[in-house]
Amino acid sequence: MSLLSVSGVGKGFRGLRALSDVDFQVGQGEILGIIGPNGAGKTTLFNVVSGALTPDTGRVVFGDRDVTGSPPDRIARAGMVRTFQLMRPFGSMTVLENAVLAAQHRRRSPRDLRKDSMDVLERVGLGDWAYHNATELPTAGLKRLELARALAMRPKVLLLDEVLAGLVPAEREPVLDLLAALREEDGTTLLFIEHIMAAVMRLSDRVLVLDQGRVLASGSAEEVTSDPRVIEAYLGEEPADAED
Ligand SMILES: Nc1ncnc2c1ncn2[C@@H]1O[C@H](COP(=O)(O)OP(=O)(O)OP(=O)(O)O)[C@@H](O)[C@H]1O
Ligand SMILES: [Mg+2]
Repeated sequence: MSLLSVSGVGKGFRGLRALSDVDFQVGQGEILGIIGPNGAGKTTLFNVVSGALTPDTGRVVFGDRDVTGSPPDRIARAGMVRTFQLMRPFGSMTVLENAVLAAQHRRRSPRDLRKDSMDVLERVGLGDWAYHNATELPTAGLKRLELARALAMRPKVLLLDEVLAGLVPAEREPVLDLLAALREEDGTTLLFIEHIMAAVMRLSDRVLVLDQGRVLASGSAEEVTSDPRVIEAYLGEEPADAED
């Protein structure tokens, strides 16, 4: 049985059809890469799945629960957590306080929350930054903090919106290793939007290609990257924010 099932999802913004009739399923422990040109509807899809937006049509089923239109905090508490393409740390707090705040819904003692949060910061390589103000973090650090805040919620399903964007190649490797470990060691299911094709090829079990709000193709990374329609719609052009 699939852990996440999206069926017939459509979303419009005034005249614009951002998503039309999107269908896909993801199994427990699977890694689904999501690619497509700028404006294809990838982030909008995450907004619908994570509850930030209610779709005009269709359903989102997580486990045995229909979560369509449920508020984001309820979906997060149920175990489906997303990161934001644009990082939004609380700048007047330390890195550790940011992680603790994210972990708080788990209703544990302050001491356990701090311990769990420190563990998560160590895991993403921010242990040495715990007592720095979040505004002091460089871009790569902010991306790691965004990931740490998501992990502090102990997700079953993690939705990653361009976690590698803005990182130089040497900074990407540890993040990719961490994502692989999340699946191997924790059994976490991952959906990741990414423009960096080397990362998509390396991590994905399956790839979903969106174009103009529709599923253009889905299959193994090899299948979709050799699909002439995908090459024409996406791979033929130089993505705006990929550096390699
Ligand atoms: N809140 C909104 N109000 C109006 N239009 C929106 C809103 N959010 C997204 N859109 C529009 O919907 C379309 C899809 O946007 P979306 O952000 O989902 O694309 P994307 O695939 O994530 O692109 P990128 O690769 O640039 O991040 C775009 O045309 C965008 O301008
Ligand atoms: Mg986007």
